[in-house]
Amino acid sequence: MAAQGGRNSAGRTGATEPAAAPAPGLQGRRILFGVTGSIAAFKAAGWVRCLANEEARVTVVMTRAAEQFISRLTFGALSGNRVHGDMFASDPEGIMAHITLSREADCVLIAPATAQTIARLAHGLADDLLSAAVLAADIPVVLCPAMNTNMLHHPATRDNLDRLREIGYTVIAPASGSLACGEVGAGRMPEWDLVRETLLALFADQDLAGRRILITAGPTREPLDPVRYLSNRSSGRMGYALARTARRRGAGVTLVAGPVNLPDPPGVRVVRVTTAVEMRDTVRTLAEGMDIIVGAAAVADFRPRTCQERKIKKRGAVTSIELERNPDIMAELGRNRRPGLLLVGFAAESHDHEQEGRRKLEEKNLDLVVVNDILGSRTGFDVETNQVTLLTARDRRRLPLLSKEATADRIWDRVVELATP
Ligand code: PMT
Repeated sequence: MAAQGGRNSAGRTGATEPAAAPAPGLQGRRILFGVTGSIAAFKAAGWVRCLANEEARVTVVMTRAAEQFISRLTFGALSGNRVHGDMFASDPEGIMAHITLSREADCVLIAPATAQTIARLAHGLADDLLSAAVLAADIPVVLCPAMNTNMLHHPATRDNLDRLREIGYTVIAPASGSLACGEVGAGRMPEWDLVRETLLALFADQDLAGRRILITAGPTREPLDPVRYLSNRSSGRMGYALARTARRRGAGVTLVAGPVNLPDPPGVRVVRVTTAVEMRDTVRTLAEGMDIIVGAAAVADFRPRTCQERKIKKRGAVTSIELERNPDIMAELGRNRRPGLLLVGFAAESHDHEQEGRRKLEEKNLDLVVVNDILGSRTGFDVETNQVTLLTARDRRRLPLLSKEATADRIWDRVVELATP
């Protein structure tokens, strides 16, 4: 990747390009959403809205205590579905609700989960509709405990949570911060992004479980003076999408990221670097323990030979910048590879895409090269979508225009094939 990036793609019109297939998500998933009596119940309303926006099918069950904090009407309006709460509802739909609700769902999410509800579930009680429905459920159960820190750390609650983990329920650790009771500590509802990733992982094949994967992402910055640098337009989205999807599929993921403006993917170890040399040194140190390394970063091929200690003055005589080559991280890995390590590179191309991709596959000794067009208005740098061709020594597969997450999933499908003897 040349320093300063490729040509801006804005000149091309996207009018003739096909619509991108939707990102893999929670669309169509049936979520039985339990809400219990905590001040954090108002956050659950926002989550129900997020799920509905994503076209998940949400059915809310509220405990009596939850109704002290927020009304059924809110959840009914946000989910578009009847809200359940009565164990002994006499209408035909309500009588067997404790059995039918979980039969008609793909997973149970309880948020917020109070100490009271956690205790009920840990002891197999079925004295309200939510606990009875969970007892009758043969589907994954996810809990988001939210309560005062002392209640959370009380041995009784800790034992109850341990018991629920033993049963196989997923307990998402509460976040720390200031709590509604005025104290500071653990007990807050987690971020929605983490909960969403947990749900997506439940529905994903765990075909990367046990694999240790390192992914590079984003641009590098090569400093000229304290305020200026050479870089390129990589946003990091492709590498971050690879990290999120690999994590969902069970991998242990480390992301070595250049300067990007993206939130850390939940459950992924993120190591931040700035320059190509820092990225190379970090990758070299971490490579030892990896099964798969993916180079999605747009590493600057060159850096200024010197970085001025002081800001270069425009009145000064600088009219050219002397450059020197940066290390090629993927090529170094390819030269020194140990048996069993799978190497995936990207090729950012503006012309002769496949020919150039194949050259990089061979020259860098890679197993797979993902070729993307950097001149398309919806492919390559700094856009949400990509259209790539997957090249191996044996074959080529052209993918359609997809979101970067969907592209990442298709890349992992191919990696799983290559990694399976
Ligand atoms: O970040 P986004 O905005 O989402 O954009 C995604 C992307 C276009 C940056 C990404 O999909 C991509 O193509 N990344 C590789 C860009 C690139 O540097 O391509 P290249 O053809 O110059 O390099 C080939 C391979 O060698 C890449 O795997 C690259 O990471 C690696 N490389 C390159 C140079 C270098 N000095 N060291 C390297 O390891």
